[in-house]
Amino acid sequence: MLKKITVAYGDGIGPEIMSSVLKILEKAGANIDIDVIDIGERAYLNGYTSGISPESWEIIKKNKILLKAPITTPQGGGYKSLNVTIRKTLNLYANVRPCISYYPIIQTNHPNMNLVIIRENEEDLYAGIEHQQTNEVMQCLKLITKPGSEKIIRFAFEYAKTYNRKKVTCFSKDNIMKITDGIFHKIFDEVSKEYPEIESNHYIIDIGSAILASNPERFDVIVTSNLYGDIISDIGAQITGSVGIGSSANIGNNFAMFEAVHGSAPDIAGKNIANPSGLLLAAVQMLVYIKQNDIAEKIHNAWLKTLEDGILTADIFNPSIHKIKATTSEFTDAIITNLGNKPSILKEVKYFSDKTKDIYIDLKFSEKKKKELVGVDIFLDWDEDNRNPNTLGKKLENIKTENLNFQKISNRGIKVYPNGNPETFCTDHWRCRFNTNNYEKSIFYNEVIELLKKINSIGLDIIKTENLYKFDGKIAFTVLQGD
Ligand code: NAI
Repeated sequence: MLKKITVAYGDGIGPEIMSSVLKILEKAGANIDIDVIDIGERAYLNGYTSGISPESWEIIKKNKILLKAPITTPQGGGYKSLNVTIRKTLNLYANVRPCISYYPIIQTNHPNMNLVIIRENEEDLYAGIEHQQTNEVMQCLKLITKPGSEKIIRFAFEYAKTYNRKKVTCFSKDNIMKITDGIFHKIFDEVSKEYPEIESNHYIIDIGSAILASNPERFDVIVTSNLYGDIISDIGAQITGSVGIGSSANIGNNFAMFEAVHGSAPDIAGKNIANPSGLLLAAVQMLVYIKQNDIAEKIHNAWLKTLEDGILTADIFNPSIHKIKATTSEFTDAIITNLGNKPSILKEVKYFSDKTKDIYIDLKFSEKKKKELVGVDIFLDWDEDNRNPNTLGKKLENIKTENLNFQKISNRGIKVYPNGNPETFCTDHWRCRFNTNNYEKSIFYNEVIELLKKINSIGLDIIKTENLYKFDGKIAFTVLQGD
């Protein structure tokens, strides 16, 4: 069936590599019809601060599938990342990045690497909620949700099942971020039980990344949250031999966007030397997604055969092993000539129609738990008396309500009052904890308001509050470090 897709030529090398890819798709017989939209630099400069006009949005929403070349985000404030906007607006929650080495054609230290990184695409520190709170302290909110985590983790297991992969590994930092990364890891453990045929394990992100860089063949599918995924997917792409051949699919339940991993490479734009492979492999992911597996297979194998023939663009060309340093157009024509041919050194690619079923994750809202308010952390901007915590502590000692009593102060998370360590450096941002006796009694919010009024009346500068809750009787906040 003829499939309508939206195409964005992008900026820098975008138009050159997109023309190359569309030419190959056409010659291979892809059954697609395209609508072209203009997004990126020109849209930004025409006054659309998100880099996209309302008309382009309409076309993307109508066709549901977007093949996008890289775009340039103008330097300076006021311009939002179009990629982040598209991902969030279309609920493209899963970012799928295959990292495969093509040894011995493309040189790499990891000849047997063949893994897929599945990155949560919408939340975490990328919610973009940042504030300056005091003269010295900036804050960026890390939001991890239960449905967001469950969705991406289920997607990873479904992906593994669909593409016959054997193991799913979770990366998190739940030894430090016990609540946010903690829930991601916990949900991973729960969901993994529903897939007993797939092996599962977990690494703390730091050692996980180190092993990824040194022994990537130990991994099959990796699932992780947004920031970690962003970082490790560039590591993964780079150690295959070149970030220039990395492709990515951004998948949601109703929309999908396919693009190269690299940017618009303005330094080589217009020179006909850019490598179109990242975008071409993204187009292959798109063809599998729209169930034109035979065309995807034909293009992917022709591309592998062209590499084997020793015809490569400058970025991956090595004169000691390859024959022809090709321009973008020569490389494109070589791939077209190879359509129908198969590689003999590199592994031939096969995309089976019966396995590329749609992955659709439908989630319900989480079950409601009993929520009780048992205290409040009140954050102050305070800069007096050489920032001596004991001076601030004494001001707060007598402030209380019927059930809330002042307990302690922390600075950058570490307890500084009572009995702080004089060596601890204090900034101008103080967390002051007031809670009910042993967090046992639950209170109404008006006690917090009463407390805030009392603190305000002694001239202290309140910058924010965080309520302390128990859910189903369990404490749902961290204790102070050093406590
Ligand atoms: P970049 O990926 O565009 O370039 C980094 C280096 O790799 C450059 O030396 C470039 O010449 C080379 N390179 C990249 N792709 C290549 C290809 N296909 N063939 C041959 N060589 C290639 O990263 P950079 O310079 O940090 O960013 C340039 C612009 O791209 C920025 O405005 C950035 O915001 C944007 N960008 C856009 C992305 C997207 O639209 N998805 C993703 C990343 C960056």
